Amino acid sequence: MLNQLSITNLRNITEISIEPTPAINLILGNNGSGKTSLLEAIHLLALGRSFRTRTLKTIVQMEKQQCQVIAKTTTNIPIGLQFDLATGLQIRLNNSPLKRLSELAIQLPLQLIPANCHQFFEQGPRYRRQLLDWGLFHVEPSFNFQWQSYRKVLQQRNSAIRQHKKTTEIQLWDAHLASHGEQITAFRKAQLNRLLEQFNDIFPRLCPEFSHASFSVKYRTGWAKEHSLEQSLQLAIDRDKQLGYTRSGSHAADWAFSINNVDPAHIFSRGQQKLFFLALCIAQAKITEHLNHESSILLLDDISSELDPEHQQYALDELDSLQVQSFISSTDLSLSDFSKKAKVFHVKQGEISGGGDG
Ligand SMILES: Nc1ncnc2c1ncn2[C@@H]1O[C@H](COP(=O)(O)OP(=O)(O)OP(=O)(O)O)[C@@H](O)[C@H]1O
Ligand SMILES: [Mg+2]
Repeated sequence: MLNQLSITNLRNITEISIEPTPAINLILGNNGSGKTSLLEAIHLLALGRSFRTRTLKTIVQMEKQQCQVIAKTTTNIPIGLQFDLATGLQIRLNNSPLKRLSELAIQLPLQLIPANCHQFFEQGPRYRRQLLDWGLFHVEPSFNFQWQSYRKVLQQRNSAIRQHKKTTEIQLWDAHLASHGEQITAFRKAQLNRLLEQFNDIFPRLCPEFSHASFSVKYRTGWAKEHSLEQSLQLAIDRDKQLGYTRSGSHAADWAFSINNVDPAHIFSRGQQKLFFLALCIAQAKITEHLNHESSILLLDDISSELDPEHQQYALDELDSLQVQSFISSTDLSLSDFSKKAKVFHVKQGEISGGGDG
């Protein structure tokens, strides 16, 4: 969690400094005032990348050379990020240059709930895997090792396939790949079960009209269920050689929720889709808090889009009851009366007032 945040020359924000609360921070203002930019700055700080652009050049304020985001965590760790048009990205964690982005992610477990998160059901398997793996990264100490090892072996197997190596040489990688893959599968299944349990508790509060629905979750391993991964790799060697890459494995896994055995995408309204995604993120945050005693940061961009005042209230009440730090943006200024615990920041043309002017 953050207790100090300063942003310089990022989009329309020339210079702001705030002291967020560890609970709900409401970022209110009109269109184009800088709300999403503020969330983008926090995302940048926690993950080293933006959720709006691949090329960081566009985030630097026009006619400026560099932007900066500086923060302090509630455990007093300083984090500083600078992006310079000429020299690129530099991040310092605890006053030393950052070695790996994962060090940042460990300090600041952050989940983004973007304004268009109701499109969750239109996203591909890669997105769903990343969401699940985010949770595992924070609760399962050996998940990152298993996943990185899996990826390395997969690259080596694919490279052997592309170089038209002999079958026996390609298959030298199979046992390693399968052992990491089976472990990843076990972790993911366990996390999905935890997720479902939390989701069943949370979702009816956000969306009472579904309080009697029965949800279930299905995990597809990424290979034929009648075989082990090692057997699948061996059986599909000719296909892989033809394709030029390894098709089966944990990198091809997927998962889905169903509601009374039907795909929620066919049932949910847009608002309900948004609440579904929000419940998933809250569930992950609760699991992280429960298993790892790490408090997450949730960025909820534009809570008012797709949600009526009543459902917004349910969502805010839920967030208010949690051990998470949230930054919630909205154009609806009436949200400022929501709760005494929440800190309210008003954004106007890249400047901030209210809350806790740092
Ligand atoms: N590199 C840049 N330099 C200066 N201004 C920029 C830059 N990039 C974007 N902007 C401007 O910054 C402003 C803030 O954008 P932002 O997306 O943060 O607004 P917002 O408050 O989230 O609005 P909305 O309610 O419409 O989502 C916009 O006017 C945008 O045009
Ligand atoms: Mg916005």
